[in-house]
Amino acid sequence: MNGVKISAVGHYAPAAILTNEDLEKTLDTSDEWITTRTGMKRRHIASEDQATSDLCIAAARNALRNGKLASSDIDCYIVATSTPDYAFPATACIVAAQLDAVGKPAFDMEIACSGFIYGLTLASSLIRAGVYSRVMLIGAESLSKIVDRSDRSTAILFGDGAGAVVLEAAAENSFLSSELGADGRRPETLCLLGGGSRRPFTAESLEAGEQYLRMEGREIFKFAVTKMIESTGIALQRANLKKSDVSWLIPHQANKRIIDAAAKYLEVPEERVIVNIEEYGNTSAASIPIALSEAVTAGKIKAGDIIVFVGFGGGLSWGAVTWKWA
Ligand code: COA
Repeated sequence: MNGVKISAVGHYAPAAILTNEDLEKTLDTSDEWITTRTGMKRRHIASEDQATSDLCIAAARNALRNGKLASSDIDCYIVATSTPDYAFPATACIVAAQLDAVGKPAFDMEIACSGFIYGLTLASSLIRAGVYSRVMLIGAESLSKIVDRSDRSTAILFGDGAGAVVLEAAAENSFLSSELGADGRRPETLCLLGGGSRRPFTAESLEAGEQYLRMEGREIFKFAVTKMIESTGIALQRANLKKSDVSWLIPHQANKRIIDAAAKYLEVPEERVIVNIEEYGNTSAASIPIALSEAVTAGKIKAGDIIVFVGFGGGLSWGAVTWKWA
């Protein structure tokens, strides 16, 4: 067996909801502006005592239940996140321990909104190489904790949540191709400036708001559309697939207009694009696995369907994976 398949999915979103109407009360913005410019209506927001590991654990438990698996059946735990519980240790270590899987390997991947695409490539490769038989990959974020609630250009965009998939060895191979890329020449295009080794927190940096996410929205918009199209095209070519072979496009949920522009170019009709941005906003590394989990739970995805997962984000980074659902 040197194939891999996704054998179970699960997701979790915190109960508290922040609507466009709520945002209207605190910011110079409107439901109309947010809806037409982004497609967003609501975001789920973690409570004060919920950290990213808590969201991961809830999503992972759902995936284990759906797959009728015990946490000890998983050989390795990977969490893709840019909002970890701590700078270190890895959030995945905390997640595995809370799931009663102490002793199993567990690590984080930090590649912002591309985290799930990179993680899918890595986890599939580990399984196909025979290193592990089953890997739990979780994309999770608590972006509300690093958003400046007084900045209307970012506060409207981000939400919290987690999506988990169990990947396992299979006779047939679902992982058809991957195209990943990164360009770190201008990290500040989308970043959390403070708190790292370059700019440790000081009273002055906190005063300057360096604990909050920063973004050059227009630059990212153009980059996102270009890279979604380019990376999907390369991934399709690598798998010997045509645009018309695509059953489902599951894109990173950053902006409905970005998704529409890419889907139009890729000639994927609207009803074949999984979009849940209205409900969750942008949940970074969690957005693709949440969308997948919802689509599978709704019975949309059938055996043999060809899925394109495509994402982009901080780094800057991007990637696409083509997948045959088993
Ligand atoms: N409510 C009302 N007006 C707003 C606003 C808000 N929440 N946010 C910005 N504006 C204003 C701007 O100040 C600007 O006003 P001006 O023309 O008087 O200067 C105007 O709206 C247009 O701003 P602009 O930035 O050009 O809007 P846009 O159509 O590009 O939409 C984003 C802004 C952020 C929604 C859009 O650029 C985007 O989604 N970019 C990608 C972001 C992203 O995906 N980030 C995560 C990557 S993983």
